[in-house]
Amino acid sequence: MSIILQTERLLLREILDTDLEGMFALDNNPNVHRYLGKNPILTIDKSQEYINNIREQYVAHGIGRYAVILKETNQFIGWCGIKYITEPENGHVNFHEIGYRFIEDYWGKGYGYESAKAWLDYGFNTMNIKTIYASAHIDNKGSRHILGKLGMQTKNEFEWNKIPCIWFELENKTI
Ligand SMILES: CC(C)(COP(=O)(O)OP(=O)(O)OC[C@H]1O[C@@H](n2cnc3c(N)ncnc32)[C@H](O)[C@@H]1OP(=O)(O)O)[C@@H](O)C(=O)NCCC(=O)NCCS
Repeated sequence: MSIILQTERLLLREILDTDLEGMFALDNNPNVHRYLGKNPILTIDKSQEYINNIREQYVAHGIGRYAVILKETNQFIGWCGIKYITEPENGHVNFHEIGYRFIEDYWGKGYGYESAKAWLDYGFNTMNIKTIYASAHIDNKGSRHILGKLGMQTKNEFEWNKIPCIWFELENKTI
């Protein structure tokens, strides 16, 4: 059964093949990829591969990145969600990471925080995850601000694919 979450302004649902155009608009923009290794997607086929990969994670781990839809207009504005990471990163492996990415037109409206808060609560209260992790480019003020506002603690600086990053963690106090 697929997960659907709702916030005041947003619907969070599985990413579908019908989101292809939105996913390409998102990842084709160099500004979106400024702190993600400066490697925007150049072909729609790559976006389809990306969607396929996300959908495989739902099957493999029961969770992953989810589409963020504006309730008012039913528009796809980006993604947010908890990914189960199986590759080593900053000395961790097999852990849950929260992340998000939005189409530039929708930045600065609180959607990043609103969607991430919903997923953090879901991860702790419904999935009973012990610790949720996140990382951001050290200069990515927007992302760092969201993670701080969520109450996540900064741990250390590290390099990921040559990108200087900050590592964040938050423990589930209820388990
Ligand atoms: C980073 C990103 C997710 C932020 O999302 P957003 O929806 O614009 O963020 P919000 O509107 O929820 O902002 C949350 C807080 O951060 C602040 N903020 C957002 N962008 C900021 C920026 N560039 N500089 C400083 N503060 C910023 C907001 O003012 C807000 O603060 P407040 O709650 O105290 O008012 C969005 O810019 C994005 O998708 N960027 C491209 C992809 C990316 O970098 N993803 C993160 C990878 S770690």
